[in-house]
Amino acid sequence: MKIPVLLLCSAVTLTWGVAVKQSRKFPDGFIFGTSTASYQIEGAWNEDGKGENIWDYLTHTNPAAIEDQSSGDVACDSYHKYERDVEMMRELGIDSYRFSIAWSRILPNGLANNVNEAGVAYYNKLIDEIVKYNIEPMVTLYHWDLPQRLQDMGGWLNPLIADWFADYARVVFDRFGDRVKYFITFNEGAQICYEGYDWVTKAPRLNMSGIGEYICAKNLALAHAKAYHIYNDDYKPTQGGVCGYTIAVSSFVPLTDSDEDAYAAELVNQLQWGLYTDPIFSKDGGFPKELFDLVAKKSAAQGFPRSRLTDFTEEEKAYIRGTGDFFGVNHYSGSFASASLYTPQPPVPSPKDDIEIGQFAPDDWPQAASFWLKQMPDSIYIVLKNIQKRYGDVPIYITENGWSTHEGIEDEGRVAYYRAALESALDALDEGINLKGYYAWSLMDNFEWMAGYTERFGLYEVDFEDPERTRTPRKSAFIYKQIMKTRTIDHDYEPESYVMTIDEGH
Ligand code: BGC
Repeated sequence: MKIPVLLLCSAVTLTWGVAVKQSRKFPDGFIFGTSTASYQIEGAWNEDGKGENIWDYLTHTNPAAIEDQSSGDVACDSYHKYERDVEMMRELGIDSYRFSIAWSRILPNGLANNVNEAGVAYYNKLIDEIVKYNIEPMVTLYHWDLPQRLQDMGGWLNPLIADWFADYARVVFDRFGDRVKYFITFNEGAQICYEGYDWVTKAPRLNMSGIGEYICAKNLALAHAKAYHIYNDDYKPTQGGVCGYTIAVSSFVPLTDSDEDAYAAELVNQLQWGLYTDPIFSKDGGFPKELFDLVAKKSAAQGFPRSRLTDFTEEEKAYIRGTGDFFGVNHYSGSFASASLYTPQPPVPSPKDDIEIGQFAPDDWPQAASFWLKQMPDSIYIVLKNIQKRYGDVPIYITENGWSTHEGIEDEGRVAYYRAALESALDALDEGINLKGYYAWSLMDNFEWMAGYTERFGLYEVDFEDPERTRTPRKSAFIYKQIMKTRTIDHDYEPESYVMTIDEGH
């Protein structure tokens, strides 16, 4: 997008604040980890009774939708190679591992009448192996792989899904909650609802623009709350863990210091994450007010008999409010928000058309292999400040943060990104933000959704041509290991060799 020169002159400036702050330390008890997700790493798509999910269905029925026509049929083969995965965790010296459970591996048709014991056994083996080495498991219940049978019945557009999800959650808490103390209900509401139901960039690619996302967002909030209450009432008293929610939060900064651009940034924040997290974490509950009013107004003008964003009842609002023990932030990038830069574009209706806000990321911000990923200065700090401003002192975990490259072990771009991101996290900690942990995305290369295996996010490279799916540490793995070991960021540290070993005590 071209930006008028005048506008750029008055743009708010952001600075890269690294390299001068080498002596700062992460506090005692701060958790470092890595993240993965079931469909992206497990493979074994139809083994031992696992049911089909929406990504199996998409990749098998429409391979052309995936950039390299690949699938997660085998992926990293973690279903068989989980011991090597845990060995890598020990090599790195992480405190905690975040992974997700494949709903259709333990409930093949999605419903809780039929528990697949072989699937449960797999997660038991994985969890046992993790805790054996004093690594804390953090489990996401839903990272996008809905059982296909539930999709056939409407998926996240069917209000009954709140019960289906709650039943599944109960099985997970029941079977694994003796060892798992950190649960996350959902990974990234907007990516589930906007990309999957409004648009076509994630399964099930429903393309119900301006409608699908809002229906899904409401059902997702109710499903989350049901699962949370089950945990809180029936399991927390004996198991003693916590249950949170993870959302993708990008940093949006007003392009200029005008009131219009401040409002533009607020609206983008409301659409991209407030829609999902205000019902849970805000003082009054419910959807963000400005966004809610805008969609109602636009819907009326477009001839809809009622708003495309259906409100909660007061009872539902109260049921959902307060159902988050922590806020999980997946953070990758950000941009400037502008009231004047929006160019109207089809389709209408759409969430973008509802808010009419332009976004802009300068050309000189470093670019990753993924087209959507640029490195924005101090972006973690900006995001955490925004969350604190909105929801107060809620405990926060950065549950994902990462950088994509193409194949290769020398990943200087990722090293620079992680160092800058962790400096930004330290800036937030210095200001007393309640940040409790940080998980790098990802432990290893994996199936990157519509991009297949063309974009790599791993600290370890995976050879997808090799039947053994050999994993090899990248330079960034050594850098991250050193940061975790010393709890400081040494910008001059260079690994002596690329030979990885397990340190004593891991
Ligand atoms: C998702 C991951 C994904 C990563 C990089 C996050 O939004 O949770 O599954 O691989 O972004 O695209």
